[in-house]
Amino acid sequence: MFYVDEARDGRRRSGSDSQPLWSAVLCVCCALFVTASTGHSAVAQAPGGSAAVAKLSIDATQVVSPVSPTLYGLMTEEINHSYDGGLYAEMIQNRSFHSTWEGEPPWDLVRRGDALASRSLDRSTGPSRALPYSLKLSVSAASARNEAGLTNPGYWGYGLQPQTTYAGSLYAQVESADIGPLMIRLVNDRTGAVQAQARVELKAGAWARYEYKLTTGAIAASKANHLELTVAHPGTVWLQLVSLMQPTFNNRPNGNRSDLMNRMAAMHPQFLRLPGGNYLEGTRLADWYDWKKTIGPLVDRPGHQGPWFYWSTDGLGLLEFLEWCEDLKIEPVLAVYAGYALNGSHVATGKDLEPYVQAALDEVEYITGDTSTRWGAERARNGHPAPFPLRYIEVGNEDYLDRSGSYTARYAQFAEALHQRYPQYKLIATDGNSEYATKVNPDISDEHYYKSPADMMDLVHHYDSVSRTGPKIFVGEWATRSGSPTPNFGDALGDAAWMTSMERNSDLIIMASYAPLLVNVSPGAMQWPTDLIGFDAGTTYASPSYWAQCLFAAHLGDGTVRSAIAGENKRFFYSATVSSGERLLHLKLVNASNVDQPLSVELTGINGAHKAKMTSLHGATFQATNSINDPEAIHPIESTVPVPGSTWTHTVPAFTIEVLDIPLR
Ligand code: AHR
Repeated sequence: MFYVDEARDGRRRSGSDSQPLWSAVLCVCCALFVTASTGHSAVAQAPGGSAAVAKLSIDATQVVSPVSPTLYGLMTEEINHSYDGGLYAEMIQNRSFHSTWEGEPPWDLVRRGDALASRSLDRSTGPSRALPYSLKLSVSAASARNEAGLTNPGYWGYGLQPQTTYAGSLYAQVESADIGPLMIRLVNDRTGAVQAQARVELKAGAWARYEYKLTTGAIAASKANHLELTVAHPGTVWLQLVSLMQPTFNNRPNGNRSDLMNRMAAMHPQFLRLPGGNYLEGTRLADWYDWKKTIGPLVDRPGHQGPWFYWSTDGLGLLEFLEWCEDLKIEPVLAVYAGYALNGSHVATGKDLEPYVQAALDEVEYITGDTSTRWGAERARNGHPAPFPLRYIEVGNEDYLDRSGSYTARYAQFAEALHQRYPQYKLIATDGNSEYATKVNPDISDEHYYKSPADMMDLVHHYDSVSRTGPKIFVGEWATRSGSPTPNFGDALGDAAWMTSMERNSDLIIMASYAPLLVNVSPGAMQWPTDLIGFDAGTTYASPSYWAQCLFAAHLGDGTVRSAIAGENKRFFYSATVSSGERLLHLKLVNASNVDQPLSVELTGINGAHKAKMTSLHGATFQATNSINDPEAIHPIESTVPVPGSTWTHTVPAFTIEVLDIPLR
């Protein structure tokens, strides 16, 4: 990320990773962000009028460069409650009572009438080595009429649907069964009406796992609900891993929210870059993504401190990342931890780095090894005997930020070991970023761009002149940023302009993924403004940039064809690719100016008159946008456009993105 570098420098100089400093970093980010976002005023005037006619010539018979079949993919990480409180189907916030969860555990007491109860974190007992602590609920007075217990707000509510079953489980220990059954209820915040309830009979003695189901009836869909766990008799109960899962995509156990998975599927992605981002690195060396602690039974996963200020349960761990790929029929692009932390510290090469290199080798074996290997067998024990596909391994994240220069040697140590054991995989380095040429000569260099609309549009010819003899490029993070929490139409125009450039240069840029992808828009859930897809506990919405990406990825050929344009306004961009099998020209036209852009088109390679399918996306202003309360303000509109032959005229309205599929037969 370019414009937070100074903030990161500040963090490194201070040598601290404290929360206040992080807050300062964010403030600097925001200040820089505001500066960047004002930069597009020259192209953001109200629309009106028309530019001069531009001449667009396309020879659809002449493919000049290939388009990578893996160009468009996904990148997410645990940020903005993307996983816990987002994609991961868990509904209970802080299910493992971690004391640093967002600063405060959101579990409160319920005491009806004259019931008396208290709660505390008990560090002396828990159900496993990974979770050696628990929440102790002590009830000194309670009755059937006046129950006592706990309440949990969920992740800013519980999004409940009618006639739906939610699968629960919990670990509990009780001194005596006299405390009676645990009653678990989903309750409407406004009316107090019970939406679903279950009864769990507790057995006295050691820690035990219990399952329960909550099934709604003919309720109105709503997120304004909370959870209550209560008892009707005095006694003490210790609780841990109190879980309630909503139905998942493909009914995958411990899986993902269907609505968000469907949003991702509609983007036609080819890969998932995992697990981050800063999430791979952690703020301190101790916070690295130690993948071995994210696999196996949930009770054996301790969780870890993420870099975006909250604890990660790691319920969505390495295997779940891979199953997510499997569910979307896409390939994983694995980033392995390379010994660098966001506070600027790094692991010394040689002996100190060896355990991390070994962890990376083991991780690749866990993903790809057959069941005769140690880690392939572990994957099978975890429920997935079949290996996963893998072609690309990324070493680290944004290591161009490591100004100590240690990456060159760290990369070399990883590359030697990975090449030796897995010569078939391509390695991606993270020290290159347009201004900083990579020093390590990888197969692929990961470059990141976070820009204002104007700056993104100014960048669209950058890769036209980049050498083709160096590494291939993975634009592993990119976004036009001015809208918050999700991109506005000006951002969508910047993104579309940038995508025309990536398609034209896709002989070099073999993969690209927008970041961040997801944001929980509930108050206080977001850490990073401008994220592609917004959601809350109940619903999701698509930003204008999301629609632009869906359109670009769904209408992409396998080759870029010869073309030229003259006389266009300086905020007009296009891409022309052909699908050779279908003999279809995909013409993308982006008019980011406030005047209509008439085109006189000369198209070689079309036989006779055709009707082209056109999908267009239009916003009245740069600021026009979608939101959780107005999710459809900007959406794609389909139509047909006559293409009478090899010469025709067409006008692209101001502030409009169009995608035309033109048959060439
Ligand atoms: O996408 C948000 C952050 O931006 C990523 O975690 C990091 O890689 C980049 O700096």
